[in-house]
Amino acid sequence: MSSKAVRNLGRGAIGLCAALSVYACVATSRTLLAPPTIPGAEFVGSGECADCHVDVTAQFETATHSMLQVQGENARSIGCESCHGAGSLHTESGGESGTIVNPRDSPETCFQCHVDKRGQFALPHSHPLTGGPLELSTGRVSCGDCHEPHRGPAIESGGTALQSINEGCLDCHAAQRGPHVFEHEALREGCTTCHEPHGSPNDKMLTERNSTLCLKCHYQEQVAANEILIGGRNHASFLQRGSCWSAGCHEAVHGSNVNSSLRF
Ligand code: HEC
Ligand code: HEC
Ligand code: HEC
Ligand code: HEC
Ligand code: HEC
Ligand code: HEC
Ligand code: HEC
Repeated sequence: MSSKAVRNLGRGAIGLCAALSVYACVATSRTLLAPPTIPGAEFVGSGECADCHVDVTAQFETATHSMLQVQGENARSIGCESCHGAGSLHTESGGESGTIVNPRDSPETCFQCHVDKRGQFALPHSHPLTGGPLELSTGRVSCGDCHEPHRGPAIESGGTALQSINEGCLDCHAAQRGPHVFEHEALREGCTTCHEPHGSPNDKMLTERNSTLCLKCHYQEQVAANEILIGGRNHASFLQRGSCWSAGCHEAVHGSNVNSSLRF
């Protein structure tokens, strides 16, 4: 599927069109959205998948992406097959391997509609994705590690609880998990207050490259010509040394067991 899919993915308007109105895209019949495909396969509709994948199908109506389903003949190419590609060869073969797209192996299927994410993952600092031009290997992450395609909110453990978004991150990043004797309350706001999970131009995928990251929350007050108060302490001579964490001052940004000012 790759070369054809990649060609189509380059065209930003496709994703937008698909996102805004799947029905319209399909109905105008100039197939603007070409889902990832298995050569020679045709769309069979989600109903066919239910026969063998009972559990996935039963939960699917609660999923964010089940909203993309429309009724009627035009609905055939969406539903399960919007991510898994046309399923006729898979269905006829009784599920033989290599006959259906599995997005775990490649993000291309998601990039089709979420065009902006391709760009974010291409930034200098991002999570290393499975698929892509590099070989499949361990130590890589797929969209499905952080997003649930088949049931409930697509943002895993999502909904309103930021704490549970953190849980997803902490599954892999155990070093950032507390409890710490001196907690940094910023983490309660969520890892994404400071990190952009899809990629960023900044080191460590930070949302800001310098002390602005911290000064969003920590008020900075110029009280005299040579006195800048942050956290009740004069920082005037500290600020020139680098960012709050790189200057050797607050290295334990995720919490500390030894120092209340999060120094180490
Ligand atoms: C006749 C039974 C049958 C039907 C119908 C069927 N599948 Fe499957 N499918 C299987 C079997 C068997 C496997 C391999 C074992 C497994 O992973 O459960 C499989 C595996 C898969 C996989 C994993 C493939 C991989 O390489 O990792 C996906 C994705 C999938 N099916 C999606 C679908 C979709 C979407 C449909 C509807 C278009 C569908 N299946 C219809 C039997 C079926
Ligand atoms: C939003 C895209 C999307 C849609 C829509 C979707 N899937 Fe999936 N599917 C995925 C992803 C992503 C994975 C790989 C999950 C992972 O990384 O573990 C997957 C994996 C699978 C697998 C392999 C077994 C597994 O759980 O890993 C099966 C079977 C499957 N899907 C069936 C279906 C069926 C049936 C439907 C429709 C009811 C459906 N999918 C709709 C994205 C989707
Ligand atoms: C056919 C187009 C299409 C494909 C393919 C697709 N998506 Fe989506 N996705 C959408 C649309 C449209 C929305 C917006 C739904 C909404 O806002 O209610 C969405 C929403 C989302 C959201 C946001 C949910 C939220 O609560 O804000 C996530 C996360 C997401 N998709 C991830 C994925 C992943 C991961 C894949 C690949 C496995 C994928 N999508 C494949 C169209 C698609
Ligand atoms: C390391 C975990 C992680 C990975 C990998 C990941 N995401 Fe996300 N994604 C998130 C989190 C966390 C959010 C919620 C962002 C927030 O709350 O600021 C999100 C939000 C989204 C959203 C909705 C909001 C937005 O930014 O548009 C979409 C769509 C999305 N992701 C698509 C994808 C796709 C497509 C992939 C794979 C190419 C992917 N994500 C891979 C963690 C991840
Ligand atoms: C499925 C496992 C997994 C999940 C879930 C995950 N990550 Fe990662 N993360 C990784 C891997 C693998 C790397 C790359 C590590 C490397 O290059 O050494 C990484 C790298 C990072 C880095 C950069 C580290 C560096 O040294 O540059 C940050 C920051 C990060 N992740 C934050 C997050 C956040 C925030 C979340 C939750 C939204 C999250 N991760 C979820 C696996 C994961
Ligand atoms: C207050 C802002 C902030 C919050 C919130 C935050 N981080 Fe960080 N994180 C940073 C900074 C700053 C760095 C860079 C530290 C450095 O380079 O020494 C960093 C670095 C990292 C790294 C790379 C560690 C390394 O040793 O290279 C990972 C992984 C990471 N953060 C994961 C997380 C996770 C997971 C969460 C949520 C539980 C989180 N962060 C919440 C600011 C934050
Ligand atoms: C989302 C808001 C937020 C962000 C962003 C944030 N902090 Fe905090 N930070 C807090 C809160 C809330 C407290 C606890 C109340 C207080 O002491 O001000 C705290 C406490 C601290 C403390 C302990 C103060 C003391 O001695 O009691 C230090 C040091 C600190 N933060 C440093 C940083 C650094 C360095 C950054 C940037 C990497 C940062 N913070 C980013 C919200 C934030």
